[in-house]
Amino acid sequence: MNKELRAQLESTTQHFKPSTKITILTGAGMSAESGIPTFRGKGGLWEKYDPEECATAEAMRERPWRVWEMHDELRQVLARHKPNPGHFAIAQLEELFENLVVITQNVDNYHQDAGSTRVLEMHGNAWRVRCTAEDRSWMDKTVPYPKLPPKCQCGADLRPDVVFFNEQLDRDVLNSAFGETVKADVFLVIGTSYVVVPAAYLPLMAKENGAVLININTEPTDIAAFADISILGRAGEILPKLVKMLKGKFGI
Ligand code: APR
Repeated sequence: MNKELRAQLESTTQHFKPSTKITILTGAGMSAESGIPTFRGKGGLWEKYDPEECATAEAMRERPWRVWEMHDELRQVLARHKPNPGHFAIAQLEELFENLVVITQNVDNYHQDAGSTRVLEMHGNAWRVRCTAEDRSWMDKTVPYPKLPPKCQCGADLRPDVVFFNEQLDRDVLNSAFGETVKADVFLVIGTSYVVVPAAYLPLMAKENGAVLININTEPTDIAAFADISILGRAGEILPKLVKMLKGKFGI
């Protein structure tokens, strides 16, 4: 481990004690090392798909098969890959710190698959579907679907239970995310370009409420300007190192 990273991780661990309230915000960069394309940047999903075409409420009404083409492909990619060491490290942090919550913008369920149990899904879950007529949702791991769009037993189209562009987030999830943010002693932001609101409000909201803000990203982002510690690197490499240091610090 290089000297700069060691120093950054050591100063990070100074802010952790057993009672610390830790809130973690993750973005697509968290799953990049699982082989899941991020949304922006080279090779991102929005290079291949036009979000207006296949990730808006209007697209779901007008072109449900088009929405499902992208979504069914994403589910197939998710089914072929798995959580990476970064996800497992965060699940271990939940075991070390009882006051820890993950707020994720990702819809891949990888935090839960890796063992995290306290996860707020700001943008929904790719494996959950919702009936467009009955407005009820459930997990459905059918992949690929034999026919698109998939239908509910009632005959109506199913939709992905994710938040499309210009759609409202789930009010309860949003309120919980704000609550966990303002209570945080340490707010870790991992793998997000920090361009999509309301998730992008959270780091500054945490900082304004007294949290130590720690940013982990492979590229410099705007968050770095006001983060207390900004670590340039890959989540799947850095997080296991952080967990190892914390276990050493607490003698576990
Ligand atoms: N480790 C850490 N960070 C990484 C890694 C990695 N291995 N690989 C990429 N990154 C960083 C990139 O530098 C970038 O800043 O992850 C970020 C990914 O940014 P986006 O692709 O914009 O994803 P995200 O910030 O999660 O997008 C937010 O936008 O399209 C919507 O709903 C979608 O939830 C998504 C939201």
